[in-house]
Amino acid sequence: MKLIKVKDYQEMSSVASNYISNQVRKHNPFTLGLATGGTPKKTYELLIDDHKNNGTSYSHVTTFNLDEYIGLTKEDSNSYHYYMKHALFKYIDINPKNIFIPDGLSENIEQECAEYEQKIRTYGGVNLQLLGIGANGHIGFNEPGTPFSSQTHVVELTPSTRTANARYFNSIKHVPTHAITMGIASIMASKEILLLVSGEEKSQALKHLLSDEAPTENFPASILRKHPCVTIIADIDALKDLD
Ligand code: F6R
Repeated sequence: MKLIKVKDYQEMSSVASNYISNQVRKHNPFTLGLATGGTPKKTYELLIDDHKNNGTSYSHVTTFNLDEYIGLTKEDSNSYHYYMKHALFKYIDINPKNIFIPDGLSENIEQECAEYEQKIRTYGGVNLQLLGIGANGHIGFNEPGTPFSSQTHVVELTPSTRTANARYFNSIKHVPTHAITMGIASIMASKEILLLVSGEEKSQALKHLLSDEAPTENFPASILRKHPCVTIIADIDALKDLD
């Protein structure tokens, strides 16, 4: 794993957006795996700026999002469909047909998961997967205890993840209890991974990730040590617990 140390959230976002837009410019076709949450928000803003100012095109890009809540409509401002549309997609020239996000309202959720996994394969797999990390080491919505062999599946969200995400909802009781997420094996199948880590609340998770212990399902991100091409961009606050 390669570690890039940066000053703060702003610099992390700037390095990440340069990294992504360089790859997007270099490869055609290109499949990008995307995350939501607070961590990549600024990176997306900078990708929009780059698209406007430097003309980086996404007409040859296909995207697969990591996850979506179950039970929220696409128009719900807390759904990840809504997040991605307003944080990135409506400002760039990506073909809407090339955008894939799990459908949390599907009538057959198991089938939706299997088809999502299959679709990623049909597109030749993800070239570059953008990731954030939860304080408990989750990636996507793969909570501690998720099998490393997991593919796209339904998860019950832990109280800690629901509490962390409650900041976006009116109250914790509005936070969905379940989500669809790409599995650990789905994430590990991507050719390259870019993990962004910012803030003190992630420092224990980053310390754990960078230790040389054997990967354990109790700390899902630890599997990334086995991936051949991972770049971590971490800011000083996230690095504070490292020796
Ligand atoms: C979201 C996702 C999650 C987040 C993680 C960190 O698509 O996959 O794993 O990356 O929960 O969230 P933030 O960035 O809000 O701290």
